[in-house]
Amino acid sequence: MRVPASLGPVRGRFLCPHPTEPRFSVLDDGLLVVAPDGRIASLDAAPVGCAVPETRPGAVWLPGFVDTHIHYPQTRVLGSATGPLLDWLATTVFPEEARFREAAHAAAVAEDFCAALVAQGTTCASVYSSSDPGATEILFSALDRHGLRGQAGLTLMDRGAPPELLSAAGPALEACERLAERWHGHDDGRLAFCVTPRFALSCSAALLRGAAELAERRGLPVQTHLSENLAELAATATAFPQSVDYLGVYADHGLAGPRSIFAHCIHLSTGEWDRMAALDCAVSHCPDSNFFLGSGLMPLRAPLERGLRVGLGTDMGAGRTFSMRRIVAGAYDAALLTGSATTAEALLWRATRGGALALGVGARVGCLAPGFDADVVAIDLPPRARAARSEVFDALAFRRDHGAVAAVAVRGRLLRALDDQRPAR
Ligand code: GUN
Ligand code: FE
Repeated sequence: MRVPASLGPVRGRFLCPHPTEPRFSVLDDGLLVVAPDGRIASLDAAPVGCAVPETRPGAVWLPGFVDTHIHYPQTRVLGSATGPLLDWLATTVFPEEARFREAAHAAAVAEDFCAALVAQGTTCASVYSSSDPGATEILFSALDRHGLRGQAGLTLMDRGAPPELLSAAGPALEACERLAERWHGHDDGRLAFCVTPRFALSCSAALLRGAAELAERRGLPVQTHLSENLAELAATATAFPQSVDYLGVYADHGLAGPRSIFAHCIHLSTGEWDRMAALDCAVSHCPDSNFFLGSGLMPLRAPLERGLRVGLGTDMGAGRTFSMRRIVAGAYDAALLTGSATTAEALLWRATRGGALALGVGARVGCLAPGFDADVVAIDLPPRARAARSEVFDALAFRRDHGAVAAVAVRGRLLRALDDQRPAR
């Protein structure tokens, strides 16, 4: 692979997320300077007579996208229409994930996976690996080599799937310890290990409890699926009769707290939403997956009214894309259908800054301001949107046929250079 080049001073139009509110300020002619440590040294209006020419005429610069939920071992089965959820897992996903015991397959897919993230301008992702520790090691080294940021975890399953995918609590948690030892906090926090029980149905009570103990002892983040599909809800209630509801299963085993991010959250009761807020859990909203598997519509109003942190996720391969811009468009449609009307601007904030806050990396990621890491993308805009502020956000979300991802950098290191026009996947 090429040695990544650094981002020099960048002159252009910048979309700067507000730190806490879902909106941006627009700097029409700004100059961004990156410090040698990869942080933003300054971002100000370009001075009169600025000697730096516009870096990418017609493009807009914004923070790299944060994908809060994606499955690396589903890269090759993206878009397999074998849903709903439990059928899709059994027919398509489990057989493919079993192939990740072969190192050659795991390595080839890890390369494609990282390249596809970069091609769509995603600089940070929360990734599910397969249940194989070797594949998870391969995933971490690929994320590292590609210069990406994120968290990833061994997908924990000790029941409810073919035996070749299962691993008992003892060896699985020992593998997590080794992976966390090696990767958690790697490169000044660019990579993190995330405790990843697949979902309640694939885990025994002992595995859920052991996962929570590991997360607590090492201060690790936690990710899992919550309340995605009605058949899944019914089976979960049968499997965990002592818990009051689906969120209760995770809470009862110590997995619900401020370092937890739950994907989907479609069918939560009012009581579950209230407890999500009381526990300060984060939500990964995955509308494209929810449409494709017919899982339902997440009522975006419910978490937002309660002040919950909500990021967006592709959930690739149930989601049909690596593009967070397409997820923004899907989230817009889902919001309209659930009476949660919103704007492309607010959803692009969730695809960047909101995702960083949901993943607990908001101190360094998701703002374009001095001290933040210089994780940025440049995206070409169609002609009309170049002029009008009001059209920039709609163009980014909905006029994707035109706009290519022109540059991608993490900590000022270019992962996709301005002159590197490989087709985006
Ligand atoms: N629930 C359990 N596993 C999965 C998965 O791989 N994808 C989705 N969308 N939901 C799940
Ligand atoms: Fe998922």
